[in-house]
Amino acid sequence: MSILVTGGAGYIGSHTCVELLNAGYDVVIADSFANSHPDTIKKVEAITNKTVTHYDVDLLDSSQLDPIFSKHKIDAVIHFAGLKAVGESVEKPLYYYETNLLSTINLCKTMEAHGVYKLVFSSSATVYGMPDQVPLKETAPLSALNPYGRTKIFIEDILRDLAASNDEWRISLLRYFNPIGAHKSGRIGEQPNGIPNNLMPYITQVAAGVREELAVFGADYPTEDGTCIRDYIHVVDLALGHLKAVEKLDSYTGAEAFNLGTGQGYSVLEVISAFEQASGVTIPKRIVERRAGDAPVSYADPSKAEKELQWKAERTLAEMCEDSWRWQSSRSHT
Ligand code: NAD
Ligand code: WQD
Repeated sequence: MSILVTGGAGYIGSHTCVELLNAGYDVVIADSFANSHPDTIKKVEAITNKTVTHYDVDLLDSSQLDPIFSKHKIDAVIHFAGLKAVGESVEKPLYYYETNLLSTINLCKTMEAHGVYKLVFSSSATVYGMPDQVPLKETAPLSALNPYGRTKIFIEDILRDLAASNDEWRISLLRYFNPIGAHKSGRIGEQPNGIPNNLMPYITQVAAGVREELAVFGADYPTEDGTCIRDYIHVVDLALGHLKAVEKLDSYTGAEAFNLGTGQGYSVLEVISAFEQASGVTIPKRIVERRAGDAPVSYADPSKAEKELQWKAERTLAEMCEDSWRWQSSRSHT
């Protein structure tokens, strides 16, 4: 079975390709390398001892996509490609709406033209906005806190409309919570450009001496230690969730949303302390003002994915920290 993976050279995409290849799927990657490097594909091949066909294509140009579907008999598509930086989306909303929406529309039109109707889409827990109840079920109200989040809500809506228009479509909307960690080999992991926006890459860069100290964004939240709580999930568990989602596409019609999280929340201070234990490195930190738009508490109710996809995240926070640190320490200091 052949799976087209858009954005397959990226952080979550590359880990998913490894698991797909290990499970015996043929993998075709379409990536513009806008936020990744072709070397990552070589690393995926080295880890799995399998080969991957890849195309350097921008999904904004559907004329580049079409030949891939003509050349390969694609059974299903996993669509990771897109832009994901929250702050940048506030500064450049049109760039985000254009890239995330148009690339998805182009992809779906091309799929339709070639009679390919199975799609797994990278959505995000950001679609829950500022939750007023946790754990979050898929039925919780959706709202966006920034243009990036709005692209995910819009795309989910587009995909639900598409599924309603033709019952051949089978679409899985995977709402990821906070992916961290890296492959055990230390060969692939998250590679943020410039100053990291997210907690774990910031921590690992402080540990590696690339940055001086971690700013903890607020310690006056209504949580036990005053810092925000999130549902961190190991990227390999997340990757395995995609395999289950692909396998189960035939078991329902339409577009279905699934939370991919552990169901367990940890505070910022708990993550720092788990990282210090896993790495043996102390993280200099300073409490600063809250960051605008941060929800105090967000974690999943993952029971729908457990029941319907037969998937459950298994890796612990300690393992996430060990693997993030192995990845960071195995590379040059960036
Ligand atoms: P990433 O930036 O590492 O990967 C995205 C990939 O898409 C990159 O390889 C990039 O080069 C490619 N890409 C971007 N624009 C493209 C275009 N126009 N044409 C072709 N390729 C293009 O990001 P990631 O962390 O692996 O995230 C993958 C997906 O998951 C994204 O859709 C993101 O919004 C979503 N997501 C990520 C997180 C997270 O915390 N990392 C959480 C929830 C959802
Ligand atoms: C986690 C916690 C921060 C950095 C983001 C996106 C979301 C999704 C996942 C794509 C928060 C605190 C962080 C730092 C800190 N991505 N923090 N110091 O905000 O839950 O989610 O990534 O879909 O859309 O918004 O993750 O890692 O940025 O923050 O104190 O230097 O760490 O305030 O409480 P977030 P994060």
